[in-house]
Amino acid sequence: MKDLGKHMQTITDGISREDWALVEKTAPLIGEHPQPPIMEKTRIIGFMGSKMGKFKAYDGETHEAAHALAQAAKNGDGRAVINAFQALQTSCYNCHQEFRKPFVKHFYGTQ
Ligand code: HEC
Repeated sequence: MKDLGKHMQTITDGISREDWALVEKTAPLIGEHPQPPIMEKTRIIGFMGSKMGKFKAYDGETHEAAHALAQAAKNGDGRAVINAFQALQTSCYNCHQEFRKPFVKHFYGTQ
C-alpha cells in the first residue's frame, strides 16, 4: 500500500509535466500490484469474512481505473488522463472509507 501512495505521487507529477509516458508506465504498477503473501492473504480473508466479496469488488474497480488511466496516457489525452486519475483516486477512497479503519485496528491495534 505504501508503494501505491508513491506511485500516485509519481502520476500527479507526470500530469503536471504532461509526461504521459511516465503516467502510462506507472499506472500498471497500481493496477497489477503484487498480491500479499499467502499467510497474510489468509488472515485478511478470515478477517473480512462475508465482506470479502465487496473488498474484492473495490479492488477490481481500482484495477479497471488504473487500466483506463494507462490507456488515456497512451493516447496522450490530458483531459482523459485527469478524469481517469480522479476515478482511480475515488476507487482508492471507496475502499479506504469502508475498510481501512477496522483493518488497521484489527491487525495493528491502532487507529
Ligand atoms: C480493496 C480495498 C483497497 C483499495 C482498492 C485500496 N486500498 Fe489502500 N488500504 C486498504 C486498507 C485495508 C488499508 C489499511 C491497511 C494497511 O495499511 O495496510 C490501506 C492503506 C493504504 C495506505 C496507508 C499505508 C500505510 O503504510 O500507512 C496507502 C498509502 C494506501 N492504502 C494507498 C492506496 C492507493 C493509492 C490506492 C488506489 C490506487 C488504494 N490504496 C486502494 C485497502 C485498499
